[in-house]
Amino acid sequence: MSEVRVGDVTSPHLQWFLDAHFGMFIHWGAYSALERGEWVMNRERWPIEEYEPIAHAWNPERFRPDEWVGMAKDAGMKYLVCTSKHHDGFCLFDSKLTDYTTAHSACGRDLMAELAEACHAGGLKLGFYYSLKDWHHPDYECGHRGDAEGHERFLEYIHGQVRELCSNYGELAVMWYDGGGLYDGEGWKADEMNAMVRELQPEIVINNRSRVPEDYDTPEQHVAASAAGRAWETCMTMNGSWGWHAGDRAWKSASELIATLVRVTSLGGNLLLNVGPRPDGAFPPEAAERLEQIGAWMRVNGEAIYGARRCPLQWGGFGQPTMVGDALYLVATKWLGSEMTVGMIKSPVARAVLLDTDQEIAFEQAEDRLWLRGLPELPPNPYASVIRLEIEGEPEVYRPWL
Ligand code: GLC
Repeated sequence: MSEVRVGDVTSPHLQWFLDAHFGMFIHWGAYSALERGEWVMNRERWPIEEYEPIAHAWNPERFRPDEWVGMAKDAGMKYLVCTSKHHDGFCLFDSKLTDYTTAHSACGRDLMAELAEACHAGGLKLGFYYSLKDWHHPDYECGHRGDAEGHERFLEYIHGQVRELCSNYGELAVMWYDGGGLYDGEGWKADEMNAMVRELQPEIVINNRSRVPEDYDTPEQHVAASAAGRAWETCMTMNGSWGWHAGDRAWKSASELIATLVRVTSLGGNLLLNVGPRPDGAFPPEAAERLEQIGAWMRVNGEAIYGARRCPLQWGGFGQPTMVGDALYLVATKWLGSEMTVGMIKSPVARAVLLDTDQEIAFEQAEDRLWLRGLPELPPNPYASVIRLEIEGEPEVYRPWL
């Protein structure tokens, strides 16, 4: 086993994460049955006694985790993070610490065990989302009220469940905490908890939402690169909701989602793109369609994404460049016709290739300008057309005018 240097982008345990750039987030739980997003219990002020029967009755008969895994892989995603417990406190895994789980309800299944099996069988890295916030647990607010004993009980519960998640589901690639706002890192005894996680899962990557920085930052619904040397991942919805919301029709287009993936990749980050499965476990057709479209794009252009590191060139009238090793990829989300001018590239370009057709592109380079000629008049790719610039040595760029 290699040495783990927490939060250090040169640490071996982070390399797969930095290479991957694209993962699937899944928000799914008893709230999905109410079809109004994962905050419905809180937003509509459901008393626990009224919400519990919803949770106990939830029985997702169309849950086919191997299909989820297949769709994620076909979309070009390298990992999957699923809500094992959201803020409503209802667990999608079997727990010795509570009966408020799918294993003890009408469903009668450990849904996370089934998902873990499918991920392991399909070779897709698995992460668990785990909410520290818990609207169901009687002790959740104890610490807030100054009841130290109650808070200790709550921490025992939380730490105990995290231990279960890290012990019973084989190899975990990511621990994705959320909802830690009520207490600080000390209040959660986060250092202790994460040390336990790393002992049980030595290669795991841990996000920053247990109120300590750990391995990576998690900008939500927007793209924000962390300072150089720090890993980060934007999580984003495909419409406006995380959990299934029947009334939300504001789906983003595949072009928009691909442009976001490229922008994130260009800045050295990851995109964790969310799907909110229907109550029965099926992906909404709108989500499935977008995943297929992104997958089709990735099959041709994935080499511009995987293994990319933060690109020194962040400008271009065509869209966004990415950098993988010695290559610069010009990802043209805006097609400029048969001639394309690119500024700022300092390193000599050896070769230019249009990925869609594998066609070599004629070019001329003079000082800080590069002209690509004889390109198709119309964009060869419906989403974004990519040109690979092969460069000798690490790509260098000029500083932009101020
Ligand atoms: C927020 C929300 C939550 C969602 C999460 C995803 O913290 O409370 O519903 O799961 O962000 O990043």
